[in-house]
Amino acid sequence: MKTVTLLVAALGLVGMAQAAQEPEAVFNRACGMCHNGQLPQAPKKGDSAAWAPRLAQGSDTLVKHVSEGFNAMPPRGLCMDCSAEDYKAVIEWMSK
Ligand code: HEC
Repeated sequence: MKTVTLLVAALGLVGMAQAAQEPEAVFNRACGMCHNGQLPQAPKKGDSAAWAPRLAQGSDTLVKHVSEGFNAMPPRGLCMDCSAEDYKAVIEWMSK
């Protein structure tokens, strides 16, 4: 019984490390508190006109700005467990 519990726990951890996070969940948990119109400087979800010049910088630059912070945008966008892949997916999701 103990072995089974440990095995389930181990599988759970492996699953968490591998699976990219759901972009919508990350947005709702972290990015959305600013990128939903609360902060005028922060480009809103779905505002493609606001996103166009940002996207033109290329996704590497955008991911760097999210990881290191950018003006009023805090480092990591307040998502402490997000990977670069997660940021890419969220940026793609919220720029549409
Ligand atoms: C505390 C508020 C806040 C949170 C939380 C936040 N942002 Fe931002 N974000 C901003 C602001 C403000 C800007 C505009 C900065 C500027 O252009 O001066 C911005 C800009 C950006 C940009 C454009 C950067 C560029 O180079 O043009 C991206 C991409 C971005 N945010 C992604 C995210 C992601 C992804 C998350 C969640 C993981 C997130 N943000 C969470 C405030 C926030």
